[in-house]
Amino acid sequence: MQTTSFLYEGKAKKVFKTNQQDTYLIRYKDDATAFNAEKRGTIAQKGEVNNLVSAIIFPYLEANGIPTHFIEKIDRRSMLVKAVEIIPIEVVIRNRATGSLCKRLGIKEGITLTPRVFEFCLKNDALGDPIINDSHILTMKLCSDAELAEVKKMADQINVLLSHFFKKVNLELIDFKLEFGRFNGKLLLADEVSPDTCRLWDLTTQNRMDKDRFRLDLGAVEEAYQEVLNRIENQVKSI
Ligand code: TMP
Ligand code: ASP
Repeated sequence: MQTTSFLYEGKAKKVFKTNQQDTYLIRYKDDATAFNAEKRGTIAQKGEVNNLVSAIIFPYLEANGIPTHFIEKIDRRSMLVKAVEIIPIEVVIRNRATGSLCKRLGIKEGITLTPRVFEFCLKNDALGDPIINDSHILTMKLCSDAELAEVKKMADQINVLLSHFFKKVNLELIDFKLEFGRFNGKLLLADEVSPDTCRLWDLTTQNRMDKDRFRLDLGAVEEAYQEVLNRIENQVKSI
């Protein structure tokens, strides 16, 4: 496999075309942004952690019935994925209240959300990824009715599977963001599943073990990313 051309650079990854049909290579960067890129920095080895964590979680989800864009890990920073057409919607599920939910609605930090909260944002940096609902999605023709129903069903299944997965490494899945894409008429989970896109609190200490350490200047950012990777790698080794 060889990369043939550069396709796209996002805030946390670069995407390349390859000489394999319908296959892209994603290379994860150490660059970190928050609050719609108002805050910028780097987190040493973040690209490796996000690639390695995603390369464990995607096959886990696949094995449990969730189709994903993942093909294979290429090296510590890169993976091959199916060349999906990304649906421009960010899908967020929240199990406990924190982050923008508390700021926007005044909900008390840390409370358990029953039932879980489901949100959609329009994937548009220029507009600051505004929150949208089903009606906006259908009127803007971001996806079809059937796709929206499938996205919701898959996201709820992923919430159950990921909550279980992280619990085994003593982490609570507080909330997370997913992106989906189309490939040969099928809906696939795309993007990444990592401490950038999931909030993970240590079950024992309630310490934040995710990108909030960068967003909120909590310190020990790199250490938290490495700790999440270590716990997951050890868990996988022990199976
Ligand atoms: P929020 O509380 O800032 O809206 O974040 C909700 C979840 O979505 C949290 O797990 C972090 C994740 N997220 C992203 O992955 N990318 C983003 O651009 C934003 C704003 C949040
Ligand atoms: N990555 C996002 C941005 O810079 C925000 C975040 O993850 O908090 O817009």
